[in-house]
Amino acid sequence: MSYNLLKGKRGIIFGALDSNSIAWKTAERVHEEGGIFVLTNAPIALRMGTINELAEKTGSQVIPADATSIADLENLIDQSVEILGGKIDFVLHSIGMSVNVRKGKHYTDLNHDWMTKGWDVSAVSFHKLMQSLYKKDAMSEWGSIVALTYMAAQRVFPDYNDMADNKAYLESIARSFGYFFGRDKNVRVNTISQSPTPTTAGKGVKGFDGFIAYADKMSPLGNATADDCANYTLTLFSDLTKRVTLQNLFNDGGFSNMGVSDQVMELFEDKEE
Ligand SMILES: NC(=O)c1ccc[n+]([C@@H]2O[C@H](COP(=O)([O-])OP(=O)(O)OC[C@H]3O[C@@H](n4cnc5c(N)ncnc54)[C@H](O)[C@@H]3O)[C@@H](O)[C@H]2O)c1
Repeated sequence: MSYNLLKGKRGIIFGALDSNSIAWKTAERVHEEGGIFVLTNAPIALRMGTINELAEKTGSQVIPADATSIADLENLIDQSVEILGGKIDFVLHSIGMSVNVRKGKHYTDLNHDWMTKGWDVSAVSFHKLMQSLYKKDAMSEWGSIVALTYMAAQRVFPDYNDMADNKAYLESIARSFGYFFGRDKNVRVNTISQSPTPTTAGKGVKGFDGFIAYADKMSPLGNATADDCANYTLTLFSDLTKRVTLQNLFNDGGFSNMGVSDQVMELFEDKEE
């Protein structure tokens, strides 16, 4: 169903790698809601993924940008404003990567160069992006910036490894920069904390299959899907949420406020007898 929520709005969407990506689903929904946008990803992801298919489907252009490079980000912003014909109304930061997770390094034995790299890609890139947008005054008044995060920023999920620390940093940047963006430009900045979702990044976390099943049993509404996340993000891009800012918003079927559920208890009942 489409509500024309984003008619006339222009945006930049980071992080669509393939059709499982949360950013991919979001781009499809933004398109349905009448928004226009530029798609971007790291040059290597453009070669490995299938983003051109999405670009064709949504009538969008693709501009490569490594989100850790200020030069790439500035070029992306300049080109986007030109292609879309005006300032930017919405931005999705849907980027995450940990070299330690990829290489199976345990949290108690991290390679700190890899840790720094993952922190730069997953968290500092959000500051670099917002600083570039802010300095160029490229956001429209009442625009909206969203980054995706995970609850390991607040609670312990051992296999999430150094990504937990990256997400805590990302959420803090959203609040810190969100203050200045709100005060000076009437732009809102929020993070959405999403359920585990079977994407390339998600499935890269050790024990993902068991963990996603556990989260589903813990959540009264079940896990939020990538499509659910896309829909929630649309509301934050729309004019219906103009004064929601500096928030970390859980899109997780209720998981974050649960202690235990009947469905999880049932798994242990036999053992008690
Ligand atoms: N999948 C989950 O379980 C889950 C849960 C909560 C939050 N998230 C977050 O959602 C976001 C999107 O991840 P996803 O699950 O859709 O996986 P995904 O693998 O489809 O997307 C991650 C994206 O990050 C991009 N990226 C990596 N390095 C980059 C760089 N240097 N510059 C620009 N882009 C770069 C990748 O190319 C990829 O497109 C991430 O922030 C992730 O942490 C995912």
